[in-house]
Amino acid sequence: KRVAILISGGGSNMVELLRTMTGDHPARPVLVLSNDPAAGGLAKARDLGVETAVVDHRPHGRDRTAFESALQAALAPYAPDILCLAGFMRILTPGFVAPWKGRMLNIHPSLLPLYPGLHTHARALANRDREHGCTVHEVTEELDHGPILGQARVLVLPGDTPDTLAARVLGREHVLYPAVLRRYAAGDRTPVLLP
Ligand code: GRF
Repeated sequence: KRVAILISGGGSNMVELLRTMTGDHPARPVLVLSNDPAAGGLAKARDLGVETAVVDHRPHGRDRTAFESALQAALAPYAPDILCLAGFMRILTPGFVAPWKGRMLNIHPSLLPLYPGLHTHARALANRDREHGCTVHEVTEELDHGPILGQARVLVLPGDTPDTLAARVLGREHVLYPAVLRRYAAGDRTPVLLP
């Protein structure tokens, strides 16, 4: 399977996906694409020998479909079978998602269906949750609501701040996403549920 990974920033999840897509893994990375030309993950992808592309969303202003047409055009030559959103911070319209449905994954830093959207760690702390975590799900038309393909949990510790909690969750993302992609690329949609 050919995998394209979409990023917006540091790309730490992308790095872990690249590092594990080797040997008998049923997928190989064909492209790392960012909507931000300054994304730190672009250099990391190049260092790991993976082609990169940038489709800057800013020239398109509020015209999401213009941005998404450019995105589709940039992806097409690489003919990816699977898209992995990894720290990709643009909301995709149903028009873009539809042809990728069943072939596009996202990682979200909460135990969905809890806390779709932003500021998940602050919201978990505000609710005094004792557990928190991350979810890999299939991307559908509704933001952060597709079928769950994996979850990993962390304990919320006394004195946690959004930053300390985010760091603990990020460490679990780096284990969960590669495990889900390996299974998903083999055609198995059984959820990966890490303790
Ligand atoms: C992090 O907040 C992570 O929880 C979420 O996207 C952000 C950046 O991740 N998935 P990455 O380091 O760019 O993969």
